[in-house]
Amino acid sequence: MYTLMRTHNCGTLCKEHLQQTVTLMGWVHRRRDHGGVIFIDLRDRFGLTQVVFRPECDPHMHQLAGSLRQEFVIAIQGMVIARDAQMINTKLVTGEIEVEAHHLTILSKAKTPPFSICDEALNVNEELRLKYRYLDIRRGEIAKNLVMRHKAMLAARNFLNSRGFLEVTTPILAKSTPEGARDYLVPSRVTPGSFYALPQSPQLFKQLLMIAGMDRYFQIAPCFRDEDLRADRQPEFHQIDIELSFSNQETFLPLIEELVVSVFKETIGQELFPPFRRMPYKEALETYGTDKPDLRFGMPLQRLDSLVQRSEFAVFQQALKDKGCIKGICVKAAEQLSRKQIENYTDLVGRFGAPGLAWMRMTPEGLSSNITKFFDPSLLTEIATTMQAESGDLVFFVAASEEIVNQSLDHLRRQLAKDLNLIGPGYEFVWITEFPLLLWDDQMQRYECSPHPFTAPYHEDIPLIETDPLSVRSASYDLVCNGYEIGGGSCRIFERELQQRIFNLLKLSTEEMQHRFGFFLEALQYGTPPHMGLAFGLDRLVMLLAQTDNIRDVIAFPKTQRAADLMLEAPSDVTHEQLRELKIYVEQTPKGG
Ligand code: AMO
Repeated sequence: MYTLMRTHNCGTLCKEHLQQTVTLMGWVHRRRDHGGVIFIDLRDRFGLTQVVFRPECDPHMHQLAGSLRQEFVIAIQGMVIARDAQMINTKLVTGEIEVEAHHLTILSKAKTPPFSICDEALNVNEELRLKYRYLDIRRGEIAKNLVMRHKAMLAARNFLNSRGFLEVTTPILAKSTPEGARDYLVPSRVTPGSFYALPQSPQLFKQLLMIAGMDRYFQIAPCFRDEDLRADRQPEFHQIDIELSFSNQETFLPLIEELVVSVFKETIGQELFPPFRRMPYKEALETYGTDKPDLRFGMPLQRLDSLVQRSEFAVFQQALKDKGCIKGICVKAAEQLSRKQIENYTDLVGRFGAPGLAWMRMTPEGLSSNITKFFDPSLLTEIATTMQAESGDLVFFVAASEEIVNQSLDHLRRQLAKDLNLIGPGYEFVWITEFPLLLWDDQMQRYECSPHPFTAPYHEDIPLIETDPLSVRSASYDLVCNGYEIGGGSCRIFERELQQRIFNLLKLSTEEMQHRFGFFLEALQYGTPPHMGLAFGLDRLVMLLAQTDNIRDVIAFPKTQRAADLMLEAPSDVTHEQLRELKIYVEQTPKGG
């Protein structure tokens, strides 16, 4: 049996340990042979320590050291000695010492890894890294992010615990929740033909915990959503999920801000300065074209409908006739933007449906471009004033439906900020508030709830529920940072009658309501406290802390854009036996179908 115990990890030894006999264990990071003397950089999660094997110390051990290959796991015993002055590595905690080995044991050998572990800078294809994720984690970068993730979770737990919140775990084998994405279903063997749904969030459980009188709940909760994936979306992700009773927005949002302050301070030492800005949804959409604006840079969108109405530019006129709009964006000091780049930006907005990208340059003589002939000189001056254009600036315009204008200018604004290095350092938080409670689904010809049907309307808007539903604002709030929606929540409906009115509006039949949420509607009738809550996307929060724009970088074993785990080779076939037990018959899809 293996009985050696390590005395230190590979990231601790320094001058104060000189002359001590130590036992270290870890992976062979690098091996160098220097004319008989063999140097090994021994690695573990905590760091690197240089180990020296001299032939005169023990020829047998020295020979064994010569057989070491990258990623072998070894144990060494030896004496901590000072490095020669010219060999000191100031970048390493252990850079002033080395361990002169007296004893070496190979604990396990390793195949040559499919990519280099010791060359962190090496650009390895992500699919290969995901297939061998355990080796990728050894390379350091992902491990660093996992440490950060751990610290963020710990800071959140400590903070919420200190404020009287209880962590309660809720079921994973559950029933469809109201977030509106597609569910992951799990067939029941005991009741063939029935399915559990994995929770898209613990939304209803946490509300039930409020009805149960738990008062302040939180959970770092796994959530599952079968939706189209993006760089900041995974099918399986974690939320820091929070709910509390008898509070209101004016005390709750500052509490959440304190939580964020604590997480940023404890995790990366970053100071934040609340209160965070607040911006109504309408203003965000009008000024930035999106409900998750990146406020690290300016370039607001300007609506120009009433001005360009006076032009003779047919494209703008047509957009107005079609009930669309025209908005502009002014790029400061944009002399370096070439025609070629402008063409690329035209392609970019085209991807979001914009029929074109008009532009004008501001010169000392005023706005100039091949379309200015359609505008009166005085109108051009007014446009320049509205856009706050100064000589050297470039003004872009998109004319289309409101949705297309917003989407395309939002993407253009963000791309310009990247290309022109306009993104300032640090973190810009903003609460987006006053979302519309309902959206109109044209295809289905019915209202949809945003974000879910348990969100309370603004108190003063309640009378409009039946008369002017689309103008009803919801008491919900999203926390946005640097262009990412990192959290979202709302005040909940706690009266059965109001809940019923919302369901009526959604044209949910009594049977449908009963089938989907009957247990919850029943619970609402046994004394429900006013309650509210929010959930952070933990992974997105850690993306910000780790300054990466790839959500996979902060998850130990993430899935690809096609929701596959390349290491596990999941999803995968199951045996006929398993399917038979579940009474599931799989339809064979023709190849390519
Ligand atoms: P919502 O659906 O807005 O609200 O989700 C809350 C936060 O979770 C994160 N998030 C995701 N992160 C990674 N991958 C995904 N697929 C994904 N989907 C969402 C986002 C988002 O802001 N039950 C409500 C919360 C509440 O009302 O309390 C809910 O889930 O950062």
